[in-house]
Amino acid sequence: MLILSCSSKLRLLEGTLRRGLPETLLVASDDSDFCTNTYAVHYRDLGACRALLGSAVNWDQAFRIHGFRDGLYEASRDIAETKGAKLDVLRYFTYLHSDPSSLPEIRLDPALRLSPLDVSHVDLLNETWLFGGNERSRKYLASLIRHFPSACLLDATGRPVSWTASDAFGAMGPAYTLPQHRRCGYSMVLTNLMAKQLHALGFPSYGNVRVENFEPQKMLERQGFQRQPNLCYFILHNTALNTDPTLTPRPAGESPA
Ligand SMILES: CC(C)(COP(=O)(O)OP(=O)(O)OC[C@H]1O[C@@H](n2cnc3c(N)ncnc32)[C@H](O)[C@@H]1OP(=O)(O)O)[C@@H](O)C(=O)NCCC(=O)NCCS
Repeated sequence: MLILSCSSKLRLLEGTLRRGLPETLLVASDDSDFCTNTYAVHYRDLGACRALLGSAVNWDQAFRIHGFRDGLYEASRDIAETKGAKLDVLRYFTYLHSDPSSLPEIRLDPALRLSPLDVSHVDLLNETWLFGGNERSRKYLASLIRHFPSACLLDATGRPVSWTASDAFGAMGPAYTLPQHRRCGYSMVLTNLMAKQLHALGFPSYGNVRVENFEPQKMLERQGFQRQPNLCYFILHNTALNTDPTLTPRPAGESPA
């Protein structure tokens, strides 16, 4: 993800996308897939946000909206009510590192090997991710592995014991360490490395952590990531359209990613 703030570059991007029509128009192909149909909103005028939600979004799809601004949830809720659509809301803290180059040098456990994630690891990610366990999530995770920076630690048999991917918004995650390998500093190593990598690519180094998921919050704070003042909302719209069963039951007592 490249962040464009300059109006001439945005115009250039628009021109490039227009020249790529109709391919650039086809951004989603599955009406019941929250992962594919994802929007991020940023606005200063809540009225503009309401107008956008009311008219520019395809309400025949299951879709997900990310945003920080006040009033987003209420706007979604009000419009959903008029359309008879069901919502689910997830609340996240966003953690940002302002200077990843100041993070300490990493020290790797010599028994483990550092590597980017490989598509052959996708089942492991799919079994352990909070939103995983079905074919759509598997496809989504495979696309993250293929297209965005990631890092994992492999044991002697080549199996990942800890990993961090990143997504189309440049956010780190999902992150996970196998339960028997926790509290060894593996996730801190990978977060440190990914933060530096994203920073070197010109992206902000950040991740979103569910409000009730304390372990990664402590881990990020310990590394100097700062919790941002506004909550980040992930609002799932038309939940009734998403009928994926979770194929892989999560082991009892396991905390989801
Ligand atoms: C969150 C998660 C990825 C952390 O993985 P981890 O590899 O255990 O993380 P680390 O070992 O790097 O750090 C965890 C803690 O262990 C401590 N630690 C690090 N090395 C240690 C060591 N040698 N001995 C004891 N503790 C150690 C760290 O200081 C940290 O403590 P803190 O929470 O008090 O700051 C893991 O708990 C997990 O997979 N949880 C479920 C999925 C999830 O919640 N993912 C995050 C979604 S945003």
